[in-house]
Amino acid sequence: MVPMTLQEIAEAVGGAPHDAPDPGAVVDRPGVIDSRLVEPGALFIALPGEHTDGHRFAEAAVRAGATAVLAARPVGVPAIVVPDVQDAMGALARAVLDRLKAPTVIGLTGSAGKTSTKDLLAQVLETMDTTVATPLSFNGEIGLPLTVFRADESTRLLVLEMGSRGAGHIKYLTGIVPPKVGLVLNVGTAHVGEFGGGKESIAVAKGELVEALPVDGLAVLNADDPYVMSMAPRTVAPVLTFGARAGDVRAVDIELDGAGRPSFTLTYRGESAPVKLGLYGAHHVSNATAAAAVAIGLGASVRQAAEALTGARQLTPGRMDVTERPDGVTVINDAFNANPESMAVALSALTAMAGGGRRTVAVLGEMRELGEESDAHHAELGRMVARNGVTDLIAVGGAEAALVHASAVDGGVTATLVPDRDAALDLLLTYLKPGDVVLVKGSHSVGLEDAAMRLAKPDAMGLTG
Ligand SMILES: Nc1ncnc2c1ncn2[C@@H]1O[C@H](COP(=O)(O)OP(=O)(O)OP(=O)(O)O)[C@@H](O)[C@H]1O
Ligand SMILES: [Mg+2]
Repeated sequence: MVPMTLQEIAEAVGGAPHDAPDPGAVVDRPGVIDSRLVEPGALFIALPGEHTDGHRFAEAAVRAGATAVLAARPVGVPAIVVPDVQDAMGALARAVLDRLKAPTVIGLTGSAGKTSTKDLLAQVLETMDTTVATPLSFNGEIGLPLTVFRADESTRLLVLEMGSRGAGHIKYLTGIVPPKVGLVLNVGTAHVGEFGGGKESIAVAKGELVEALPVDGLAVLNADDPYVMSMAPRTVAPVLTFGARAGDVRAVDIELDGAGRPSFTLTYRGESAPVKLGLYGAHHVSNATAAAAVAIGLGASVRQAAEALTGARQLTPGRMDVTERPDGVTVINDAFNANPESMAVALSALTAMAGGGRRTVAVLGEMRELGEESDAHHAELGRMVARNGVTDLIAVGGAEAALVHASAVDGGVTATLVPDRDAALDLLLTYLKPGDVVLVKGSHSVGLEDAAMRLAKPDAMGLTG
């Protein structure tokens, strides 16, 4: 973090120092909300959590070397006390940004693929200049300031994943950190239940990103998605498009190798270069082309973008994480989250990776936050399993999992319904055979991530031998 004294921080956030004998004490390591991540010189930010209150860890944080705590009340150790800690994080992020050497801020949003694309983009931009990007999927009003705190004077490019669960969310984020470049990936049905009003209202909310761009900025839009293209008139920035069917930056001659990894030719204004991705699933073609478009918009050559994409790796776990077990079972952990679109791409990747000859086992949890259409989406998911030629389904959950199960059975899939994660693990213990390809996926709250991780480490489960 750029060094700031407690006095400067207090002024930036409109707070008052408490129990802080030295207002000139310096914070020069990133602000963090987890006291276990405190480095000497850090600012510990005490947030009320779901399970515990950050204020309880104030003393431990200072003991671990934190210069001070950002808190909602005095905590008996050096603190800056503010009325609202979350608001103060935003104000501090803005103050930090103002002290940086004007890095180019790239914001990206979309219904699916933000984290995957952010990781690809960061790996391309790193070949151009010093880059800081959102860690994992920290894409909200807390994660965005935390990302800004990681930047310092050497940071030239700042990549921020921006999530949105309703109108005004992205506007709030761009109010803290105004982006110069805005990338919108797609408009799907993720969180549609929370938005209300269907895809149109999601497009309205995600479009807040391009509304925040300046005239000398750049809006990077998905030419294959009409909802994204409908945002073009909402920005004063020039527009650069990407896509597989259309777009300024195009992916053509797309192929999947035997393991389901895409390769394609990247083209822009008559230039072209080959890309061979190390990531699994056809959906990454769109994500990679989006990342290339941003890099090209920032001055990269087509060849440079293509080479960096070819060298890029999966950075964030839980997204099409592939493990080859010693017993010949391939485990695909895509259990970080799920919605109808991401289920579709994951199921098609599953059958692509099996190459026709292997048994495919989809372990699918329910999809949350789909609103009124939720039942219909779950019934459709079962049909999708059948359409993709998946041989076996293990549906995990209650009434909605039962809908997936029923429509998959109708489609000729060998299907089993289990109530929860533990029951799924119990069943899989005896179910999986050498040669199987197993996909584990469901909404975050179903908790299948843990199951996927345990399946990928069969020794821990006594599955081998
Ligand atoms: N371009 C895409 N189109 C459709 N589905 C995608 C795309 N890219 C990724 N996915 C699917 O969406 C899942 C989530 O991917 P990722 O974490 O990159 O998205 P995200 O937008 O960051 O999600 P979140 O809203 O949870 O932060 C992946 O596991 C994958 O199955
Ligand atoms: Mg994400």
